[in-house]
Amino acid sequence: MGPRFFVGGNFKMNGTQAFLKNLIDNLNTKQFDKDVEVVIAPPSLYLDQCRKQANKEIGVAAQNAFNASSGAYTGEISPEQLKDLGIEWVILGHSERREIFKESDEFVALKVAFALKSSIKVIACIGEKLEERESGKTFEVVTRQLQAIAKEVNDWTNVVIAYEPVWAIGTGKVATPQQAQEVHEYIRKWLKENVSEATAENTRIIYGGSVNASNSAELAKQQDINGFLVGGASLKPEFVNIVNARI
Ligand code: G3H
Repeated sequence: MGPRFFVGGNFKMNGTQAFLKNLIDNLNTKQFDKDVEVVIAPPSLYLDQCRKQANKEIGVAAQNAFNASSGAYTGEISPEQLKDLGIEWVILGHSERREIFKESDEFVALKVAFALKSSIKVIACIGEKLEERESGKTFEVVTRQLQAIAKEVNDWTNVVIAYEPVWAIGTGKVATPQQAQEVHEYIRKWLKENVSEATAENTRIIYGGSVNASNSAELAKQQDINGFLVGGASLKPEFVNIVNARI
């Protein structure tokens, strides 16, 4: 048996108080596969509301956090503040932050290390762009992104790695199960050779990019896919089907 399956719902910059109340009311009534860890990531404004409303079995993640506990960092939120609200997780290095907000591999790695040091668990996102895949650079890109994190982090116990090929995010163009498996297998091998055998065995490597209720079951069958990071479909009732993809 591999590590516990993990399904995250990244709401991105979507939702209002009323919409999220409705969404979580609905999730609270659903029967989830007990072997799946479910974590939702609402916009930071609504973290408190969502943490208070969601059942205890549902984890809550921020979509970003800065690498300082407090101070003059206008617009940022800190791991300490997340803990204050009872938030256990943070998504870091999402491709939208890397691309739109110009976050470098090194900055992402510093934030990963700081969140872990502050006892916040991390969903660390990596993945290649379309032109990088087309020029045969997929492994090179994910290696570079992993190396940056490994430079700052020794203990990967509280890290989930989300492999999200940028060309598959929000495009409806999901990676085939074989394409995703190939990269997940590579990431696990990289962890084995560069961190430790135990880390390779125990780290959840989840897939993100146009996951929906129709493609999740096939993806979930792949040996090295330990879950999903779901964007658009996490705002819809089908999120429950994705969580339950293996039953
Ligand atoms: O964090 C989630 C990913 O960006 C995937 O988004 O499911 O809308 O393609 P998507």
